[in-house]
Amino acid sequence: MKVLITGANGLLGQHLTKILLDRNYQVIATSRGESRLPFQPSGNYAYREMDIANALETFAVMSQERPDVVIHAAAMTQIDDCELRPQQCERINVQGTSQILTDAETFSSHFIFISTDFVFDGEQGNYAEEDETKPISLYGFSKLQGESMVQTSTIPFAIVRTCLVYGNLLKGTRSNIVSWVKESLQQGKTIQVVSDQVRTPTYVEDLAKGIALIIEKKATGIYHISGKDWLTPYDIALKTAAKFQLDASKIVKVDASTFKQPGRRPLKTGFIIEKARKELGFEPIPFDEGLNLL
Ligand SMILES: NC(=O)c1ccc[n+]([C@@H]2O[C@H](COP(=O)([O-])OP(=O)(O)OC[C@H]3O[C@@H](n4cnc5c(N)ncnc54)[C@H](OP(=O)(O)O)[C@@H]3O)[C@@H](O)[C@H]2O)c1
Repeated sequence: MKVLITGANGLLGQHLTKILLDRNYQVIATSRGESRLPFQPSGNYAYREMDIANALETFAVMSQERPDVVIHAAAMTQIDDCELRPQQCERINVQGTSQILTDAETFSSHFIFISTDFVFDGEQGNYAEEDETKPISLYGFSKLQGESMVQTSTIPFAIVRTCLVYGNLLKGTRSNIVSWVKESLQQGKTIQVVSDQVRTPTYVEDLAKGIALIIEKKATGIYHISGKDWLTPYDIALKTAAKFQLDASKIVKVDASTFKQPGRRPLKTGFIIEKARKELGFEPIPFDEGLNLL
């Protein structure tokens, strides 16, 4: 079976590529610019440059490859950048999704869209798939628009919402909450970390495995796929310091109101993952175990 991944240079894209190759899928990894993946072309693997905001390029790649499954992970993922550059956010997260979706309707038979806990407003927390969406940032709004387009498309689809993904890139570096805390403390910096937000942090390999289960079972509908521990960023920072034997006294506990960022973050998110457990057999590792794997 041939699977095409968008945004394959990113954290999720790299791990997805590896897990699908390990499971003997044929993988077409696509992203904008040159490959940053640690794999060599083979009978089962190819990298193709594809900017999802370029309709001619997506059509060319999709019409040539005709993948059975498309996993759409590419996105403008920086919350503040989306707020500061709304047109670019719209072009990539909304128009780009529309384009790849249209191509998939013609050339593929299963579309998997990666979405986010930021489609919720964060007032309630502990969200199930059917809870009311109400984004409070442009990033969240753009991803929700993507969801809406996918839901009205003619192709069998799954929408995977995930939450605060952590892990190391297979090649290259990109900051996430754990790497930021670790590097800051290693450099002796004092960091301010919020204690009034709640998340269910997700180990990137768990997320990739959850998506592989969706492909395997040809599952359709919305799935919340995340870790199972409810933690605040402050909890995460303390656990990270303990794990890497770093000075936790440099971690200053603050409220989210301390930061004046362009993009608003929902206070309490975190997911109920019972549907993914029951229908897919998804079971994530505990956060402490994920830390041990970094
Ligand atoms: N990370 C999280 O905590 C989190 C939480 C919830 C949902 N998600 C969702 O999960 C998905 C994967 O995120 P991630 O964590 O892997 O983020 P990431 O590391 O930022 O990966 C996103 C990838 O998309 C690529 N991309 C951006 N614009 C593109 C374009 N126009 N055409 C083609 N590729 C483009 C980026 O390219 P460059 O590398 O060149 O920038 C990057 O490689 C996203 O859809 C995101 O919304 C992530």
